[in-house]
Amino acid sequence: MKTIFSGIQPSGSLTLGNYLGALRHFPLLQDEYNCFFCIVDQHAITVPQDRFELRKNIRNLAALYIAAGIDPERSTLFIQSEVPAHAQAGWMMQCVSYIGELERMTQFKDKSHGKEGVSASLLTYPPLMAADILLYSTDLVPVGEDQKQHIELTRDLAERFNKKYNDIFTIPEPKISEVGARIMSLQEPTKKMSKSDENLKATIFILDEEKQIEKKIKSAVTDSEGIVKYDKENKPGVSNLLTIYSILSNKTIAQLEEQYEGKGYGEFKGDLAKVVVDALKPIQQKYHELINSDLLDTYLDTGAEKANTVANKMLRKMENGMGLGRKR
Ligand code: TYM
Repeated sequence: MKTIFSGIQPSGSLTLGNYLGALRHFPLLQDEYNCFFCIVDQHAITVPQDRFELRKNIRNLAALYIAAGIDPERSTLFIQSEVPAHAQAGWMMQCVSYIGELERMTQFKDKSHGKEGVSASLLTYPPLMAADILLYSTDLVPVGEDQKQHIELTRDLAERFNKKYNDIFTIPEPKISEVGARIMSLQEPTKKMSKSDENLKATIFILDEEKQIEKKIKSAVTDSEGIVKYDKENKPGVSNLLTIYSILSNKTIAQLEEQYEGKGYGEFKGDLAKVVVDALKPIQQKYHELINSDLLDTYLDTGAEKANTVANKMLRKMENGMGLGRKR
């Protein structure tokens, strides 16, 4: 059985972008692959976090993984900081990384641009991500489009390590879906939808209430043409809404264009809001059942135990390869 690894940062509430680009694919992979799903809290602290918020977001994310369909008895669901091998292996991967290649990462450029006091960890974020993936001999990494560059770097680092020290790492491949891999902001549809957008109308959160979702979709930026048609270049707002609608309704873009021919954006947006609300409702219900249950802790304890066993074995191989410590 091949292995899947993916992670999500608990750096805020989960967005519709996270769901459509990544999370919705995970449950479907559980039958065919040996799956590891991680709450990457150490990645979240590369930018300042409020400790109370962070703890809350970690738990929320764990509940949302399960609410979205992850079965913690089939997949290994765990918190990154509860598996110390990640930080240890992350350090080793930093030692085979070049500053130049880390500075070229677009996420680093975006997050550090124009900022003072940029943390060193923002630069060394990708070697930690490489460690996450490589510790589990991962074959495939299901992610949204924005993580492709980090996975390409992971492959380079793994190949470099294999050549220089010991041929121990599986070279992973990104698994990026053709639709929904880049959901855009509702307010600036040429920018990706993000957890940290300052404009609260730009992002739909998985736990948003019905009224909030309706409001955000109604005020989504479109254009003055009034024609529901997919044209990413000239109609990025409408195209983004069509993408969301198509994924959540299982209708093709062409079917939707036909359905709304001669109708304005008002009706289209009203129907889309209903589709989004209906899609999120069962996830929200399951989330509320789980969030305060002890069962969630039991799942996370078991997940950490399983992940520690696998990760420690690879960590030992890495240490032996590099000659750290004593031979064991
Ligand atoms: P993060 O937490 O930013 O996002 C989690 C997942 O959601 C996807 N995503 C999107 N997909 C479509 N449209 C969007 N607007 C959108 N925004 C986010 C991301 O591509 C991602 O798949 N570095 C990673 C976390 C990470 C990781 C890993 C992922 C750490 N270690 C190992 C995979 C494997 C991140 O910041 O994702």
